[in-house]
Amino acid sequence: MRPLRVAIFASGTGSNARTLIEKAQTLRGALEISFVLSDKATAPVLKKAEELGVRTYLVEKKLDRQNHEQAILNILREHRIDWIFLAGYMRLLSGAFLRQFALWHGDASQVVNIHPSLLPAYPGAEAIARAYQDRVSHTGVTIHFVDEGMDTGKIIHQEALSLSPEASLADWKEMIHRLEHRMYSNFLESLSLGQQKTFYFEENQ
Ligand code: GAR
Repeated sequence: MRPLRVAIFASGTGSNARTLIEKAQTLRGALEISFVLSDKATAPVLKKAEELGVRTYLVEKKLDRQNHEQAILNILREHRIDWIFLAGYMRLLSGAFLRQFALWHGDASQVVNIHPSLLPAYPGAEAIARAYQDRVSHTGVTIHFVDEGMDTGKIIHQEALSLSPEASLADWKEMIHRLEHRMYSNFLESLSLGQQKTFYFEENQ
């Protein structure tokens, strides 16, 4: 059985991407991070991935969404990618994109996202800061399948955290990011162990 091939999409700092890459390197060939793709030339994630020896692609949206997504699909197909992990990729994927990717994998949805809240609470950008402003008594992290909406797909796994309202926003961010890193790397490992049903890229495509 060949290794599972995973692509990471990210637009920002890349702490989740880094954790996933480091985790994959411990999985003894069961799974590989084939590349990290970003839509932002200035995203620090690109440098982080390169430093860790992972190939990167910058695909900026210069024309319309369809052209942008087609360029990405071409790269996914070239690398026969099995799963996509969004890690702070601040762009929605269209239904057409998701359907094409699913068609290559027995119609299965193999695109996942991590989000720093207990969805459906606080979807979208700045979720941690918005929950902090509301001084919620607890928050958490969600891993979910990706659909066309903003952080709306089917939930795979959630973990809650109690956070003291006296703590600073920086403390909240640190604790939530730590939880994200643990949950996303555990999920990656569960893929490599066959604990998540996977349809490999259909080689006749
Ligand atoms: C993470 O907190 C991730 O959950 C969030 O962006 C951050 C990226 O951080 N994603 C979303 O808000 C998706 N709606 P990172 O670049 O350090 O991994």
